[in-house]
Amino acid sequence: MREPHDAARTGPLLALQGVCKSFRAADGTLRPVLDHIDLVLRDGEIVALLGPSGSGKSTVLRILAGLIGADVGSVHYRGQPVYGPVHGVAMVFQSFALFPWLTVQGNVELGLEARGVPAAERERRAHQAIALIGLAGFEGALPRELSGGMRQRVGIARALVVEPEVLLMDEAFSALDVLTGERLREDILALWRTGALPTRAMLVVSHDIEEAVLMADRILVLGSDPGRLRAELPVPLPRPRLADSLEVRELVDEVYGLMTAGAAPTTRDGMEPDRLHLIDRLPAASVTAIINLLERLARAPMPGRATLPVVAASTELTDAQLLPVTRAVSLLGLAHLVQGELQLTPLGRRYVDGSHTLRREIFGQQLLAHVPLVAHIRHALEQHPQGAMPEKAFLRLLQQHMDAREAAQTLRTVIEWGRHGEVFGYDLHARRIHLPGGETDAGPPAGRRP
Ligand SMILES: Nc1ncnc2c1ncn2[C@@H]1O[C@H](COP(=O)(O)OP(=O)(O)OP(=O)(O)O)[C@@H](O)[C@H]1O
Ligand SMILES: [Mg+2]
Repeated sequence: MREPHDAARTGPLLALQGVCKSFRAADGTLRPVLDHIDLVLRDGEIVALLGPSGSGKSTVLRILAGLIGADVGSVHYRGQPVYGPVHGVAMVFQSFALFPWLTVQGNVELGLEARGVPAAERERRAHQAIALIGLAGFEGALPRELSGGMRQRVGIARALVVEPEVLLMDEAFSALDVLTGERLREDILALWRTGALPTRAMLVVSHDIEEAVLMADRILVLGSDPGRLRAELPVPLPRPRLADSLEVRELVDEVYGLMTAGAAPTTRDGMEPDRLHLIDRLPAASVTAIINLLERLARAPMPGRATLPVVAASTELTDAQLLPVTRAVSLLGLAHLVQGELQLTPLGRRYVDGSHTLRREIFGQQLLAHVPLVAHIRHALEQHPQGAMPEKAFLRLLQQHMDAREAAQTLRTVIEWGRHGEVFGYDLHARRIHLPGGETDAGPPAGRRP
């Protein structure tokens, strides 16, 4: 079995840094398509690139493959600058791009011919690649004799036959009907999991969120006009993944939310901040888990930064538990995910180094600034003559927008966070939320840690 994350600590296979690209429009004006794209693809990982049509996904792939150059910025393959087509990188296209007059065998051998591989070896390797992708017996067939799914298998065999370290797939499944596309995708993932592919990393362009969640270790979201990376999201779910599982559905919703969040301002050096609305679900992360994560991060071998697998190992959280905690620290501006690495922000550093009181202050400030539900509750309490309200009042608000379980979870989280930040207190017996220092805080010490 492949261990995608272990290898992820070594240097990137492919890297774009500050890449900009413009194209000349029909009227002759120069139109920016990519704006300062930073992207790395590491050994052992599958990264999905999502984005609306025209956001520049295919352009990113073509630049990564060395098929076209960037106007500004750099492209590196294994640390070496890229100036033209890269030997270790192969691409699969949406339109299968097969030569109709060549047999399956001939189409697959083509890539090897261009590389000057002798005929006997070409034949042997093409045969192998064709068998690997499930087309044994069809070597002599012509493309028109094959179904769409089989043609795309030929396209994939043609990419794999050169034994690429990196496989770039540009909507490779979207021209196929749903079932055929799913079957092909599952076959590729199975080959990947068992280490049968010669490939060490894949970048998969898609406009299908579910496909991205099912395939990738990491999802990048490209925004349009001009294309900038708007978000990065880890997918720490075990494989194989089931499309109907709760974890997959939740992530699909989350990515959908990110993609439809509208064009909030972007910062040049980081991802677009993840914005919350009043009625959004909060990630189910306990204060203990948040503190634990931040402290581990501060003490990581490279202080203040670590890849998610390293964080998972040191916090003893499962990958699925780590995700909400990562999201929480990111929402609160205490750490950010940058290219697969979780990095403590300066504020996060102050939090970790701070006294008990300073920690609460920082946490409270960030809650009020970034979690609208906290600000809403606080405001409501301040308006109230007793400075206290039943939790039910807020639960009802949440239930109008999410199911009962999610609403209860979100309320639990907001209460625990609010108490830690001393934005409000909670009376467990009366089930009331109150201003801090008002009624006695008789709840269990959920936000208090030794
Ligand atoms: N060679 C070119 N000359 C002029 N404009 C181009 C060229 N290639 C791409 N573009 C433009 O750049 C923009 C981004 O194109 P690109 O194909 O990378 O987008 P995409 O995200 O892959 O879209 P889709 O989801 O539709 O495949 C589009 O507006 C496209 O028209
Ligand atoms: Mg495209």
